[in-house]
Amino acid sequence: MAELKLGGRFTFPGTSLTVDRIGYGAMQLAGPGVWGPPKDPEGAIAVLREAVAAGVNHIDTSDYYGPYFTNQIIRKALHPYPKGLVIVTKVGARRSPDKSWQPAFSPGELTAAVQDNLRNLGVDTLDIVNYRVMGSGLGKEEGSIAEQITVLAELRRKGLIRHIGVSNVTAAQVAEAQAITGVVCVQNNYNLAYREDDALIDDLARRGIAYVPFFPLGGFSPLQSSTLSAVAGRLKATPLQVALAWLLHRSSNILLIPGTSSVAHLRENLAAGQLTLSPQTLKELDAVSAASGILPLTQHPSDPAITGGH
Ligand SMILES: NC(=O)c1ccc[n+]([C@@H]2O[C@H](COP(=O)([O-])OP(=O)(O)OC[C@H]3O[C@@H](n4cnc5c(N)ncnc54)[C@H](OP(=O)(O)O)[C@@H]3O)[C@@H](O)[C@H]2O)c1
Repeated sequence: MAELKLGGRFTFPGTSLTVDRIGYGAMQLAGPGVWGPPKDPEGAIAVLREAVAAGVNHIDTSDYYGPYFTNQIIRKALHPYPKGLVIVTKVGARRSPDKSWQPAFSPGELTAAVQDNLRNLGVDTLDIVNYRVMGSGLGKEEGSIAEQITVLAELRRKGLIRHIGVSNVTAAQVAEAQAITGVVCVQNNYNLAYREDDALIDDLARRGIAYVPFFPLGGFSPLQSSTLSAVAGRLKATPLQVALAWLLHRSSNILLIPGTSSVAHLRENLAAGQLTLSPQTLKELDAVSAASGILPLTQHPSDPAITGGH
């Protein structure tokens, strides 16, 4: 039953890791600004336990959420981890005492970040580690990532990492990483209204590589659109459930990691896997993104929603 409820299943290429297509992103569990402990630690634990009880077997995190607090709360809520739970983390950034997000991609920093994740999650091997590129302005930026991917590949050889992914990357960077090691997933900014990666998604789908959109609901300021609301009204769903269902319909290699600090929102997000969108409805929703260009409806690159989480 979980298969239907959570949007079907996906196996990361060249691995034995199979997950349901609706997972959970843990970034919202840290304190305000993704800094410090959760506002409501018991509530955070309840969200994580409810997710797993409902069948979620894919959790996205990073040790720089908090920093440390998000991984520590995952460990407190779920360790020893249930069989089949895939925890995906990311390295490539660090937090400064002023709460800013800074690049941290030297070999030493990447190795330390992997060790921090291992310690705070309480595991001997990390299932999947994404290398998150921090361009200037912290968005995407062309440039070689060969050195960083080579460091992660070496940590995999040592048994600290099972599989490697990339995040906030261009198509050229995905290709460069692929030439060094098997890339099992790509995690970039994408949602109904921000569709810069359409061609990349189709290319990854042909190669069986997972595409995991971050900000699937629009990020810190969730998506709003009259079309989304109208469709939701017809389907007796919420607009954000429709936004998630649209992603599930967009391509079979898309895996969802919507973030929430609320059990009620978590349940709504998981139920989005039960929505079927007709070809006519999909056309209607596609027109929303065409009308809004590649910018999220409620966001702009200068918006803290874009720069406030990675
Ligand atoms: N690789 C990267 O650079 C990167 C960047 C950003 C995020 N990420 C990952 O991607 C995950 C998802 O991104 P995100 O959490 O930033 O953004 P998101 O999933 O697009 O949206 C999260 C926001 O939507 C709200 N929300 C969630 N479900 C809702 C519902 N059913 N109804 C109404 N509001 C709802 C949340 O507030 P409530 O807490 O009130 O529900 C929160 O404000 C993160 O958790 C993180 O793991 C990765």
